Amino acid sequence: MTKTTVIVGSSPTELAHSIAQRLDADIVTSKIKRFPDGESKITLSGEPSGRCIVVQSTHPPVDTNTILALSLVLQAAKQSDDVTAVIPYMGYGRQDKEFLPGELVTIQGVAKLFLLAGAKNILTVDIHSMTALDYFGGGAKNVSAIPSLAEYILTMNLERPLVVSPDQGGIDRADKFAHILNAESFALEKRRDRETGDVKIQNSKVNVHNRNIILVDDMVSTGGSIVKAAQFLISQGCADIYVACTHALLVNDALQNIKDAGVQKVISTNTIPNSTTSVDVSATITDALQA
Ligand code: R5P
Repeated sequence: MTKTTVIVGSSPTELAHSIAQRLDADIVTSKIKRFPDGESKITLSGEPSGRCIVVQSTHPPVDTNTILALSLVLQAAKQSDDVTAVIPYMGYGRQDKEFLPGELVTIQGVAKLFLLAGAKNILTVDIHSMTALDYFGGGAKNVSAIPSLAEYILTMNLERPLVVSPDQGGIDRADKFAHILNAESFALEKRRDRETGDVKIQNSKVNVHNRNIILVDDMVSTGGSIVKAAQFLISQGCADIYVACTHALLVNDALQNIKDAGVQKVISTNTIPNSTTSVDVSATITDALQA
């Protein structure tokens, strides 16, 4: 049987160890020293060999973690021709199109760098869009944490649940989530100012009165989308609001702002470990690695 090595980056380390355990793989850890000028020095605990799986999310600091992930892939590719980059949270996924004239499609460059570094396969979780995934070529795979998040919400036995996507782009995700809960779903009309980033929620005709809301999203960054959605839903007389997201970036005061807006609880996965992490995606990732 071919030996497998999991190379554990700086984050999410628990998820990486859990994947290694499920695969019965050897583990190579990385020690990261940050210099005052922002550079990182990476030292591996051993030499990776066999099938190499690099685990590193590219959450903030995004560029630092992207360089780290790329460096680990590059190093693994020196020893092995079977390297998989597992990037549980893929940063730059939202930069998948030229939204305003002159804007670069940065995910395209990121994808190219991973391929050039030697990643034969790339595996990620709930990438922001399939357009973004396409840039990584045929060896790229996306798995979804939505079933696991929905199973978690099921255990909460919420009465009169209603699954809501904060924007039209997330309606498929919300539908899939609602199907597991045997509940209804709908999407709000969100408008984001492409210059300022400000979010506005348009009126919606769905009756949310006394319904327990589960706001489902792929990621929560500044929390702006969730805050605006929660304020709108509360103004329409909903009952409690819960947020279920795959990637909780929770930049700056996002979590406090979300709570201040009236959200009961944020539930996220361990693609980005933090205080809201409740759902483990190691089995989902391992199944895909073994498929
Ligand atoms: C947008 O299309 C995404 O699915 C998220 O809704 C959005 O990126 C979250 O960002 P923020 O928390 O800053 O509003």
